[in-house]
Amino acid sequence: MYNEIDLDKIDIAAEPPTEEPARQYYFMAKCREWVKSFEQENGRLPKSCVLNFGCQMNARDSEKLRGILREIGYEEASEEQADFVIFNTCTVRENANTRVYGRLGQLKPQKKKNPHMMIGLCGCMMQEPEVVEKLKKSYRFVDIIFGTHNIFKFAELVATRLESDRMVIDIWKDTDQIVEDLPNERKYTFKSGINIMFGCNNFCSYCIVPYVRGRERSRDPRAIVREIERLAADGVSEVMLLGQNVNSYGKTLDTPLTFAQLLQEIEKIEGIRRIRFMTSHPKDLSDELIRVMADSKKICKHLHLPVQSGSTDILTKMNRRYTKEQYLNLVDKLRRAVPDISLTTDIIVGFPGETEEDFEETLDVVRKVRYDSAFTFIYSKRTGTPAAVMEDQIPEDVIKNRFDKLLKEVQAIAAETCAIHEGTVQEVLVEDICDHDPTMVTGRLSNNLLVHFHGGKELIGKYVDVELSECRGFYYIGARR
Ligand code: 5AD
Ligand code: SF4
Repeated sequence: MYNEIDLDKIDIAAEPPTEEPARQYYFMAKCREWVKSFEQENGRLPKSCVLNFGCQMNARDSEKLRGILREIGYEEASEEQADFVIFNTCTVRENANTRVYGRLGQLKPQKKKNPHMMIGLCGCMMQEPEVVEKLKKSYRFVDIIFGTHNIFKFAELVATRLESDRMVIDIWKDTDQIVEDLPNERKYTFKSGINIMFGCNNFCSYCIVPYVRGRERSRDPRAIVREIERLAADGVSEVMLLGQNVNSYGKTLDTPLTFAQLLQEIEKIEGIRRIRFMTSHPKDLSDELIRVMADSKKICKHLHLPVQSGSTDILTKMNRRYTKEQYLNLVDKLRRAVPDISLTTDIIVGFPGETEEDFEETLDVVRKVRYDSAFTFIYSKRTGTPAAVMEDQIPEDVIKNRFDKLLKEVQAIAAETCAIHEGTVQEVLVEDICDHDPTMVTGRLSNNLLVHFHGGKELIGKYVDVELSECRGFYYIGARR
């Protein structure tokens, strides 16, 4: 267990161990020696900054990187002040890549001024060979490049870079390895994300994730439960179980276990009061899971259920493996079992071949389901995916029109569905001081909606009963009861 390992007791003059995670602790100890000499030379500790560009899985990976940096001895700082900046990238849509190149360009002068400075790049975008080629050619000032499969090797890569003057590149195509018990730096003391599986086998035709995150691998349920027990002992009461497709959890384990069964195990853990999970694929959402959700006292009454499109034709082209009717039936079933469940979704507009009629079908689903909120995306062509070479790519202006129309509809419905709780008293887990008003705090309802109410920082991490006095579109202004 990492918090029982004393880095000072590791003999860094010896050969590095071959097993993990011992090998990584060896390299952390090595890097720490370097930090000590940095401190002597400069009269301060080196500073680092990990920036996240992607989804919740990436955010969780960034916490792991921060944990390793903390063990090594780095202090956290802003991007402008950091001696070591790491971008944890996303590549799900083209504009995510563009942003990274832009930010890298901005970092170049900072690196020129600071002789100690290092730049690291990791995450999904690095799994694309063309990206790494471009970086090697045009961004020589980057120090370390690694991918999604070997993030556990971060300390080793930093040590390698500190010992040589060359750009360190280490990208794995895939892996079946899951390294447990590495350090971790949590953003919040009271809630945490937990990986339950990695990768995706679904190959939706527009999506690059299966190519950059590799094949589906589930974590051992005992490791998951042990991690959550430790978190609970440490004061965490809300957990978010993370995976690209949590509904197919456990299928690849030696002793298969369903996601619903895993949830029941987690439900037993004392100290955990709220359980969330994402993302669910509609095709794999079982009756067993619906039953477990309905019976649970801890699973939050919220489900993120990406529909992507309302047209069965487009869903077929997307390789989603459900029809519009099957999706709507699933929603009915869920609502019957868990009447107050809040539903959210992801929708893509402008998939190749999408006609006006197809788009109307999407609007129809939005009107029928009445989502509490929806993430709407303009289709982005990802090289290497089947959709990228499909005929009938939709012109930009048509997509923009549809997108605006969809957004308007989604927002109008979300404002109405959000407002139905007005006047009720509900339990809120307080997360932070309110961004806009320091006399207020911000918390979340079980259904994931945000509530702002008067209170101080002593409430952070606590569960408070709050009257939802006024709905303001997507959030509430409340008052303590
Ligand atoms: N273009 C637009 N949106 C995409 N998503 C995934 N791939 C693409 C793409 N190529 C969206 C899907 C998914 C969410 C995480 O990102 O809606 O659910
Ligand atoms: Fe991408 Fe589909 Fe896998 Fe989600 S389920 S990560 S959209 S391929």
